[in-house]
Amino acid sequence: MKVTGTTGLKGTVNIPGDKSISHRSIMLAGLADTPVKITNFLHAADCWSTIDCMRALRVRVEQGDAGVLTVTGNGFYGLREPHEVLDAGNSGTTIRLMTGLLGVQPFFSVMTGDASLRKRPMARVITPLARMGINIKGREQSRYAPLAILAAEQIQGIEYDMPVASAQVKSAILLAALFANSPTIVTEPMPSRDHTERMFETFGIPVKREGNSIIIEPVQKVDAPEQIDVPGDISSAAFWLVAASIIPNSQLVLVNVGINPTRTGILDILTQMGADITVTNERWSGREPVADIIVRSAKLQGVTIGAEIIPRLIDEIPVLTVAALFAEGQTIVTGAEELRVKETDRLKAVVLELGKMGAAIDETADGLIINGPQKLNFASCNSHHDHRMAMALAVAGAAAQGVEIEEPDCVKISYPDFFSILAALRQE
Ligand code: S3P
Repeated sequence: MKVTGTTGLKGTVNIPGDKSISHRSIMLAGLADTPVKITNFLHAADCWSTIDCMRALRVRVEQGDAGVLTVTGNGFYGLREPHEVLDAGNSGTTIRLMTGLLGVQPFFSVMTGDASLRKRPMARVITPLARMGINIKGREQSRYAPLAILAAEQIQGIEYDMPVASAQVKSAILLAALFANSPTIVTEPMPSRDHTERMFETFGIPVKREGNSIIIEPVQKVDAPEQIDVPGDISSAAFWLVAASIIPNSQLVLVNVGINPTRTGILDILTQMGADITVTNERWSGREPVADIIVRSAKLQGVTIGAEIIPRLIDEIPVLTVAALFAEGQTIVTGAEELRVKETDRLKAVVLELGKMGAAIDETADGLIINGPQKLNFASCNSHHDHRMAMALAVAGAAAQGVEIEEPDCVKISYPDFFSILAALRQE
């Protein structure tokens, strides 16, 4: 896929559904005993992995006009033993959240994923779930998938201090906690995205928050809404926020962007860098706040991105690295070691691939140091089969002399229309 440099981006982008919220909407709706309509669901490979898994557990998922889904579960205890291995594909959220949901079921199941997912750490969910009485075994002493999940007997609630801020781990525990015989308290070192908690409340499940702790009492059923409207994904909007900021003569209107405060680190950091961003028309989409965002080209300055904000922009570091290359002065990213265990090692991958365009970026144990501005040249760069790498490289190429992206198809994981939208927004 060749992306050439452009003199400006202009137009309006309807931001596709939030990936995290799409996964959770299917999982919770699958536990209901009344049908749930889901609008603006993210029709991308990761979320379809979750649909496929839930279908294998006998949840009905039908697709109507405009991609609207209708999910019909068989009630809170209605999941059934799958006949096949469940395949989470590339999706960390699918496999980690599903382990929580499957671990409490009275049947056996096996989960696996693609080559990337089978290298990602699973002990972080297996360990707390084991303390609840859930029996999961995985490859290499239960460090990696495939995972064998044995039929559950007694599930007890736990008090768990999470060593890493991870919404996936937190959510796996909270899902299992619904089926336990006593309350569960999960404490995070820093707050990670709280879409599971908000989705619980949408389904009538009480959630108690005390500081960085979340307390869940077991339930016997969920009280499903008739409809869930999934907000647009700020992690997808992030590519347009950075692209329009660094490409001169740009102005974009991003419509229906989720602005949940556990996700808006990208807005805070870009604003600190001097970006011209206006958040308008703030409203609610169920329990999630959304807004439209106007972004115009601006002169950016370097910034320090420390550990405390990382969970609020964890998926945006690759594209923020591109922003930093166009900013005046030094940008330092620290506390981002979790990036090494994403779809690929994103710290290593950004240094290597943007390096092919001539970027000099220092990789540290837990972050990056970027001195800007830098001149980027045309080059062939590889996505490492990582959707966010592919899109970050496209933004860099569009803002500079162009780029040839090898293995670009991975954008289907979270943003299947990304390249066609980029083409439509270009000014020459
Ligand atoms: C996600 C949580 C984050 C994020 C991922 C989606 C979720 O992962 O990187 O893209 O939907 O819960 P971690 O929880 O592992 O940090």
